Amino acid sequence: MVKDGNNSAAHFLPDRLDLESLRAAAACCEGCDLYRNATRTVFGEGPGRAAYMLVGEQPGDQEDRQGHPFVGPAGRILDKGLAEAGIEREDVYVTNAVKHFSWVPRGKRRVHQKPTAGQITACLPWLEAELAAVEPRVVVVLGATAARALLGPAFKVTRQRGEPVPLGDRLAVATIHPSAVLRAPDRDAAYAGFLADLKVAAGTA
Ligand code: URA
Ligand code: SF4
Repeated sequence: MVKDGNNSAAHFLPDRLDLESLRAAAACCEGCDLYRNATRTVFGEGPGRAAYMLVGEQPGDQEDRQGHPFVGPAGRILDKGLAEAGIEREDVYVTNAVKHFSWVPRGKRRVHQKPTAGQITACLPWLEAELAAVEPRVVVVLGATAARALLGPAFKVTRQRGEPVPLGDRLAVATIHPSAVLRAPDRDAAYAGFLADLKVAAGTA
């Protein structure tokens, strides 16, 4: 594969850009090096038309094993937040900025590694195609990687979270990543902030 940064998923996009064709094509993506060490592509899931699109960073260990987004510990926080914010699961399409799990071995564990800017850019065609297909009213941007992909490197989640910002002809609301809630020294405070941001998103749709 060519050097990181020169890669793109664009070569792997199907002719038809409906979700099922996209999902099938993404399963064979080699648009960056991440496909090599991951088990499978973890594509977005949810209704074909959804009011909300939630965008995380990349699949984690559990997501890579099971093949579905947000089914591990971060997913449990996310589900709790959605329920408490009054956002129905059937109104939500969930995906990630990067579709393969990036990890490094530490003993027997596979430790999550942040995707590089080049990998985020390489994977962006999938996310853009999902946005075009699902046409959500509100995009909930979960953490810095998703923000970088969708809102650019100048966007700062810590400063600009919880306020609707334009994203093309729709709105985005950024918040911290649910994994950051789990890692926070004061988990209750972090969760409260996360929930408040989800409530803004709920009010925006
Ligand atoms: N973290 C993410 O960003 N996405 C997932 O799907 C799981 C954990
Ligand atoms: Fe393709 Fe994205 Fe996987 Fe890279 S991370 S191989 S661009 S699906």
